[in-house]
Amino acid sequence: MKICCIGAGYVGGPTMAMIAKQCPDIDVHVVDINAQRIAAWNSEELPVYEPGLDEVVREARGRNLRFSTDVDGAIAAADMIFISVNTPTKTFGMGAGRAANLEYVEKCARQIARVSTGHKIVVEKSTLPVRTAEAVKRILSSNEHQATFDVLSNPEFLAEGTAIRDLLHPDRVLIGGESSAAIEALVDIYARWVPRERILTTNLWSSELSKLTANAFLAQRVSSINSISALCEATEADVDEVARAIGTDSRIGPKFLKASVGFGGSCFQKDILNLVYLCEYFGLHEVAEYWEQVIKMNDYQKRRFARRIVTTMFNTVSDKKIAIWGWAFKKDTNDTRESAAIYVCRDLLEERARLHIYDPRVSKDQIIRDLQQVMLTQDGELPPKKAELIDNNVVVEPDCYAAAEQAHAIAVLTEWDVFKQLDFRRVYHSMQQPSFVFDGRNILDHAALREIGFEVYAIGKGG
Ligand code: NAD
Ligand code: UGA
Repeated sequence: MKICCIGAGYVGGPTMAMIAKQCPDIDVHVVDINAQRIAAWNSEELPVYEPGLDEVVREARGRNLRFSTDVDGAIAAADMIFISVNTPTKTFGMGAGRAANLEYVEKCARQIARVSTGHKIVVEKSTLPVRTAEAVKRILSSNEHQATFDVLSNPEFLAEGTAIRDLLHPDRVLIGGESSAAIEALVDIYARWVPRERILTTNLWSSELSKLTANAFLAQRVSSINSISALCEATEADVDEVARAIGTDSRIGPKFLKASVGFGGSCFQKDILNLVYLCEYFGLHEVAEYWEQVIKMNDYQKRRFARRIVTTMFNTVSDKKIAIWGWAFKKDTNDTRESAAIYVCRDLLEERARLHIYDPRVSKDQIIRDLQQVMLTQDGELPPKKAELIDNNVVVEPDCYAAAEQAHAIAVLTEWDVFKQLDFRRVYHSMQQPSFVFDGRNILDHAALREIGFEVYAIGKGG
């Protein structure tokens, strides 16, 4: 059995590494058009930071796991082809700002059609709008070599930072398809390490829609608790206590109730916007509006956090140094896509704050790129004044202490564990007075910080 995966990103790389680890007899070839990314997969410094990933890749790479840019060759040789390319929100034309850009998926389908002979199973691993498989099937069927195809939907549910654990012990694996032989071939692969009762099979459209629905429900929980955090701040209720109280109801459950500065990541917003677009397409305007509110609440939460910093610091942060702890969209990943930190820092920069940023896994180049990107005009230009603002007011620091030195405030934007283990007396004595802490993740010991002398503000806590 030979497998090819098109797309060596946060999903393609780890997922295929896990399949290769668990199935030493299956040849797994991961391909990408991004030569730099492939070189990194073949090096000691993998392009994706994920706890436990290095060991999995090291075990299988060179045995039955390969990374290369030979997309045609890998497709031609494979029995089963996973499409794991990016499906970002469209930024142009019809559905701009909402619909998924399916350009990369369609290009893959065309390339598979062009190169294939015989029979192949094509697996949608990317997150796609419901009924995309229909278009994929049509493109594949118009090939010149009389090749035949089965199309399956096998969405990925891993979360970044816990990808290896999620892949090893998934709550479920979902496979949608029409041909029972094709479904069985994919079930057989996962069944090497996933209990059969956790492998769900459905029709194609249920599988495609379940992925969007799962992300929408998860994001909705975060927006729901964040909405309550605003009310807590106004009433002196404590959002963590409220979350604990409702989370012990077994019907509600304790997970995904951590109030925060706002959810980020490459998928929640994109997938909900995609759902909203689909609902509108099918004339379901009330349903579209319902889900759009999850995004609006998230935008409000990010804006509200930046505004709270400004109002608390005597209504001005202009020329004040603010230490930003954390840039990734959550801990244990180097991924910054849609990170709340980007939007909070944009708002603080607009107020002319001086930002000193530290993240244990994100490079300076990435941080600067993210800030430039978020300040682009609609025409994709970076106005000189914004470029100047970033140049003059942003410093990327080598550690937390350096970032906080002589700062007026610290804003915690990612819940990295290292932030909890610092010498806060040292931090306090190096800062300007009064020393403010804005804990956007509610991870610090607020009572201990107040004891030292800090003025502490947290999400969903009055004060
Ligand atoms: P990514 O951007 O990290 O990786 C996608 C890769 O595909 C890129 O390296 C890109 O160069 C490559 N690519 C694009 N077009 C190509 C082509 N024609 N030929 C070869 N390579 C091509 O994206 P990702 O985070 O891995 O996400 C991939 C898909 O999985 C998306 O649909 C996403 O919604 C979904 N997903 C992501 C996560 C996650 O945690 N990131 C989790 C579940 C599902
Ligand atoms: C999410 C889903 O959890 C995965 O199942 C899914 O496969 C993936 O999206 C995807 O399709 O890309 P991910 O975005 O990697 O995974 O990370 P999450 O743990 O879901 O966190 C998303 C965001 O919500 C982060 O910014 C996180 O800090 C925030 N969050 C999460 C909270 O603010 N509070 C919570 O209680 C949970």
